[in-house]
Amino acid sequence: MITLGTLLMLGFSFNDIHTFGNVDEARTTHLSLDLTLDFERNVIDGVCTATLEYDPDKRPSHVDLDTDGLTIVSVKTKDGRTLDFKLGDKQGVLGRRLRVTLPESRPRDIVIAYRTDPKAEAVQWLAPEQTTSRKLPFLFTQSQSIFARTWIPCMDSPGVRVTYDAIVRVPKGLTAVMSARHGKHEPEKGIFRFELPQAIPPYLIALAAGELTFRPLSARTGVYAEPAVVERAAWEFADMEKMIQTTEKLYGPYEWQRWDVIVLPPSFPFGGMENPLLTFATPTIIAGDRSLVSLMAHELAHSWSGNLVTNATWADFWLNEGFTTYIERRIVEALYGKQTADMQKLLGQRDLRDALKELAPIDTQLYVDLKGRHPDDGFTDIPYEKGMNFLLLLENHFGRDKLDAFLKGYFREYAFQSMTTKKFLGLLKAKLFKGDEALWSRLKVREWVYESGLPDNLPAPRSDRFEKTKAAARAFAESGALAGVDKDRWTTPEWLDFLSNMPDRLSRERLDALEKTFSFSKAGNSEILFAWLMIAIRNSYEPAYPSVEDFLTRQGRRKFLKPLYAAMQENGDTRAMAKRIYAKARSGYHPISVNTIDGIVK
Ligand code: BES
Ligand code: ZN
Repeated sequence: MITLGTLLMLGFSFNDIHTFGNVDEARTTHLSLDLTLDFERNVIDGVCTATLEYDPDKRPSHVDLDTDGLTIVSVKTKDGRTLDFKLGDKQGVLGRRLRVTLPESRPRDIVIAYRTDPKAEAVQWLAPEQTTSRKLPFLFTQSQSIFARTWIPCMDSPGVRVTYDAIVRVPKGLTAVMSARHGKHEPEKGIFRFELPQAIPPYLIALAAGELTFRPLSARTGVYAEPAVVERAAWEFADMEKMIQTTEKLYGPYEWQRWDVIVLPPSFPFGGMENPLLTFATPTIIAGDRSLVSLMAHELAHSWSGNLVTNATWADFWLNEGFTTYIERRIVEALYGKQTADMQKLLGQRDLRDALKELAPIDTQLYVDLKGRHPDDGFTDIPYEKGMNFLLLLENHFGRDKLDAFLKGYFREYAFQSMTTKKFLGLLKAKLFKGDEALWSRLKVREWVYESGLPDNLPAPRSDRFEKTKAAARAFAESGALAGVDKDRWTTPEWLDFLSNMPDRLSRERLDALEKTFSFSKAGNSEILFAWLMIAIRNSYEPAYPSVEDFLTRQGRRKFLKPLYAAMQENGDTRAMAKRIYAKARSGYHPISVNTIDGIVK
């Protein structure tokens, strides 16, 4: 077994400014959870038994864990001896340090009894009326980036890995699922058991409970969802097995045994979350035509980039998301063709250019400085799309064979370890660049990673199909002609490109024509609807307002909420509407979305 001492000797140290954990002296290696979900009080009553490994040379006198909003009831050794503990003052986004004083013997396990706050950021408690069947309550967690500490006392750093097991106690009729293997369940007693033998960072610990049914899709894939949603979801995600096979061929074996997805209630604040063995997904990607399943490819890709090899700190977030976005598009290309993948690359570059316009220069580096800030401030298109384009540059220069071999070796060699930007660049230079310093400067690697903006060697993907959508948009803006629109053949990326090429200002007549011809306000595809509603708000197009209100009240994905509310807030015509809709919708949103939108709608 690798001990902490050897890890430190091997040189794996990292400086995570977002944890109180005294990770240089001690590390948690396993968490054993006993969680009781109380839907009356919106509280989880928990016992967390943390297994610790100490640096033998440092003989620490205490262990420090992260907490935020937790009430600590007691801390004991496994044989019941009480340990002294102290909660520090709340320190902004980091929460409070839990310092447990260690006896000289330095016990292997400490047992922490605690309860969560009803407002814990990681947890959304849904009343029965907020679910599809309106019969039973629902709960789900979202731990990334630093919210695990709001429901589990732990060293909440992506540089610290733990295995875990859990027993979850729920009211009768509910089914619990976690990002782990299933153990012996006793549903009639409301008891569910889980175990994850793979070591993961705490941000990947996840739990959901509600009225859930399961549909298998292949021997190792399947869908959990509320009964009313599960059939549509199973159809939409039918390619999950093929996605695994494709990725295994490119980057080596899938190390997690199963890959299931849970379709959450519409208030889930993200599109998807790569919780191991069990992707969490928004129902807004169920378009009815499988046109948004690249999101599933993305979450699957994290099973290599992110969950096997993990960003060591949130400043290294691009190592998770840039690689994952690159792999996502490789999967899309293999399964759905080069044209589709190229269109997605171009849409990504458009998002990247928009982000470069909006963000402060310092926030456009791949390696970001998060001092004094929340890690989620770094959750922009930069780590995703600038990161993806950096890998595309490597692909263009070295060719796919070499890049794929490098990545495959990287995932194998550093599996179940965390990775810093610095260490990755060292590997890249040695293995792919074979130490060629001149080439390193020529490709501007340092600029890509450590400087703001975009180096002048950004790859330029091409798409014939986007030539047509662009021309159609131009013709329409100029003359109102819609002959260039191939309504029956266009796919989702083409509609998105068409809409994104509309001029900022459109006349009422043009907007009426679009709405009348394509009924965008009734689009079942959430991405197309979103793109249209942004145009509508920008142009104070009143006929679309009911659709704006409907969309903002029936789902809570932050990626959609944030720009829509911001656009309404910016436009004097829609400011009051933003306030009114938010007042109505706020209680249905997840705490993570609420935190963001509170800062927008005044
Ligand atoms: N891991 C992210 C979601 C995330 C990032 C949550 C940072 C909290 C903090 C996930 O893999 C992701 O990137 N989701 C995207 C969809 C993807 C297709 C770009 C999303 O939710 O929009
Ligand atoms: Zn991701």
